[in-house]
Amino acid sequence: MRVLGIETSCDETGVAIYDTDHGLLAHRLFSQIAMHAEYGGVVPELASRDHVRRVLPLVRETLADAQMNMGDIQGVAYTAGPGLIGALLTGASIARSLAWGLGVPAVGVHHMEGHLLAPMLEENPPELPFVALLVSGGHTMLVDVPRIGEYHILGESVDDAAGEAFDKTAKLMGLDYPGGPLLAKLAEQGRPGQYKFPRPMVDRPGCDFSFSGLKTFSLTTWQNSTQTLQDKADIALAFEEAVVDTLFIKCRRALEQAGRKRLVVAGGVGANQRLRAKLATLNAQVYFPRLAFCTDNGAMIAYAGALRLQAGASEPAVFQARPRWPL
Ligand code: KG4
Ligand code: ZN
Repeated sequence: MRVLGIETSCDETGVAIYDTDHGLLAHRLFSQIAMHAEYGGVVPELASRDHVRRVLPLVRETLADAQMNMGDIQGVAYTAGPGLIGALLTGASIARSLAWGLGVPAVGVHHMEGHLLAPMLEENPPELPFVALLVSGGHTMLVDVPRIGEYHILGESVDDAAGEAFDKTAKLMGLDYPGGPLLAKLAEQGRPGQYKFPRPMVDRPGCDFSFSGLKTFSLTTWQNSTQTLQDKADIALAFEEAVVDTLFIKCRRALEQAGRKRLVVAGGVGANQRLRAKLATLNAQVYFPRLAFCTDNGAMIAYAGALRLQAGASEPAVFQARPRWPL
């Protein structure tokens, strides 16, 4: 079954075609980052308008990459939430209309399930069961996955997501949006041991996270520093180490608690090299998607949707987008 996937939950338009017999055939992404950068964050209305402009041209380009015609599509998957409501509605209405026009089924996919399944698109996909660490700009959670479709949340952030803390710390030190990757780059110039950040909630039982305190700690540390470029790099490093250590400790705990030996890491912060290196030292097999599939993309939505459609999922020809949607 050849499934077209459409992702429009935030500021990336992603389109992909997944074939249940032959795997991923093609994928395309358009990032709106440059458009939002001048506002220092995502402007929801601009995001929706740009998705309207981008989705259909990207669908055409992706079909051409896969040497297919629209008529070859046998199912359509779209991100139904969580995300920005206008952005979600854009993708959902285009996906639903295409499916209706083609006379094929459509299915709404949970964005975080998409992230969680992204490592399945790699050459050595993880076997089940596994624990998944989902770390993005909107979510930080640990999920036990005994089988696809069954997700038990072991812990999650009680306030900011890890990516959000990265972005806010970067912003207060004057870095452009989205600051996470820029902060990580800057941390490479940081000198270890110059600043010591706390590891929030590690001495409490359970697998929940809290990152808003780290952001406040960054602010006071930055304000009390001499604010040179070296200070910025040293703070970036101390901040990054604190987030990575915290995630590492909770992943170790989640694996123990669930009795699992495999960890899957997904979501934008999964692109962080320090996090990848640290998690690789766990006494478990650790799986990461390729960097392009850590951040938002259409491939993970096409894949998650293809599994659903292959299992016979069908929805009535109405759609619903959910800005908030528990996994
Ligand atoms: O999964 P994603 O593309 O979008 C959401 O669903 O949120 O994740 C984006 C988040 C942003 O907060 C971004 O700063 C962060 O992932 N991010 C990183 C890195 N690359 C992306 N954070 C730290 N280090 C990175 N290398
Ligand atoms: Zn995402």
